[in-house]
Amino acid sequence: MRQLNQDNLTDAVLARLKEVKDPRFKQIMTSLIRHVHAFADEVKLTEEEWFEGIKFLTAVGKKCDDKRQEFILLSDILGLSMRVVEINHPMPEGATESTVLGPFFVHGAPEFPFGADMTKTATVQGEPTWVSGTVKSVDGKPIAGATIDVWQAKADGIYDIQNPSGEFELRGRVTSDAEGRYAFRTFKPKFYGVPTDGPVGDLLRQMERHPMRPAHMHAIVSAPGYRQVITHVFVEGDPYLDSDAVFAVKESLIAKYRKVDSAEEAKKLGMPAPFLRLDWDFRLAPEAGVKARATISAADAAVR
Ligand code: BEZ
Ligand code: FE
Repeated sequence: MRQLNQDNLTDAVLARLKEVKDPRFKQIMTSLIRHVHAFADEVKLTEEEWFEGIKFLTAVGKKCDDKRQEFILLSDILGLSMRVVEINHPMPEGATESTVLGPFFVHGAPEFPFGADMTKTATVQGEPTWVSGTVKSVDGKPIAGATIDVWQAKADGIYDIQNPSGEFELRGRVTSDAEGRYAFRTFKPKFYGVPTDGPVGDLLRQMERHPMRPAHMHAIVSAPGYRQVITHVFVEGDPYLDSDAVFAVKESLIAKYRKVDSAEEAKKLGMPAPFLRLDWDFRLAPEAGVKARATISAADAAVR
């Protein structure tokens, strides 16, 4: 067709997909083309505006390297990451809910025994916290041998891998014991801002949005025969629970950090008094043929 106009252009572009063999790829490209054309129509996009958009996407790409994934951050602050999680990982009633992975997960965190102290390598001190609980199935049965990969920001709101040294801090893998129990010592997480020194930060400012995330600990919990869950544990009372920059908060994931004054209890656990306690159970759904979620870090994305 040579006479393309507002009325037939979208169909002409879609017609060029006719040789595509992979039906899923064809479905995705068809929908993407339809939606981007409809978007341009709806806002009557000007050439200057689209050029601004192209400059923005170029800047997002340039900001990416093996430590920083600005596209994941963009997807997170637009709520797209949580949208994709919701589509793909609805959990049955009673199971620990899924959230975004975020850009600060890394493969190969150190393994810690039951009750280990993850603050030993800490460069920034925080409030000493004993985290313990049980990994269970949704029907309440304890799960032995479950792996819990945890990571959280330091008390200054920065993740270990954001530091030049890249030494692991407040990050590790623990395994549940024969009764499904796990325990470790860490610091109470604090709220922090997502990185704003790149184009996504500029976008947040332009949208008059703050970059803050409510305080949280991340966890990936896996056990044979169960669906892996990528989740958060949020801190009750945090001022950003209702305005998380990446839309990941769920009521069922908000936990109480209890203050313990008892010197006896502190001594038993090898903690200083007073200290904080987080009692938190993870509840896994049975597998039922579901694939584990992709855990793509910035480094993985950079080499793909
Ligand atoms: C995080 O919680 O680590 C995170 C998630 C999404 C964007 C930035 C940070
Ligand atoms: Fe985080």
